[in-house]
Amino acid sequence: MNAIVVVDKNWGIGKEGNLLVHLPGDLKYYKEKTLGKVVVIGRKTLESFPGQKPLQGRTNLVITRDESYRAEGCILCNSKEDALERLKEFEDKDIFISGGESIYREFMDLCDTFYVTKIQEEFEADRYFPRLDDMGMEMVWQSEPCEDKGVTYRFCKYVREQL
Ligand SMILES: NC(=O)c1ccc[n+]([C@@H]2O[C@H](COP(=O)([O-])OP(=O)(O)OC[C@H]3O[C@@H](n4cnc5c(N)ncnc54)[C@H](OP(=O)(O)O)[C@@H]3O)[C@@H](O)[C@H]2O)c1
Repeated sequence: MNAIVVVDKNWGIGKEGNLLVHLPGDLKYYKEKTLGKVVVIGRKTLESFPGQKPLQGRTNLVITRDESYRAEGCILCNSKEDALERLKEFEDKDIFISGGESIYREFMDLCDTFYVTKIQEEFEADRYFPRLDDMGMEMVWQSEPCEDKGVTYRFCKYVREQL
């Protein structure tokens, strides 16, 4: 299973229900990686998307505790266990844990590949991703620096170190 995320220098990922900064190059990369695949998101992340609509061209699995919640075009699950049951019909490599913080933390242990876009700046944040460098994960690849709107970032790939 994969996780995909964009973080700032402090591993911040969001503020007041939104991303820290909109980087067109990163959104394109996210789309390329996830198109035709399954994205697993929390209810709050779904509601942060334009029009609160699911991502096109992807299977959107949304997790909420609210059994009466409705979201057109999404598979709704009411617990992690429920989500894992639904995910059995998909190949592990096709699954992208896509946030927010609560969902990343809950599915962290099940992920072996992490696509992390690292912004080389600090933003004010109220949501964070676990610091992979402190968790026995190894960065196996990073891109050359990219720049959007004067913000520099790199695409990185981490894998869980084999024991
Ligand atoms: N930088 C990035 O790559 C990135 C990616 C995605 C999101 N984000 C940011 O992350 C922030 C949102 O993160 P968040 O942690 O506040 O919210 P979230 O993880 O998107 O959603 C939290 C909600 O998910 C549901 N949920 C979580 N665990 C559950 C479980 N075990 N069983 C059932 N439902 C569960 C609950 O929904 P109910 O309250 O409906 O029960 C909970 O309130 C936003 O700022 C967003 O922009 C950043």
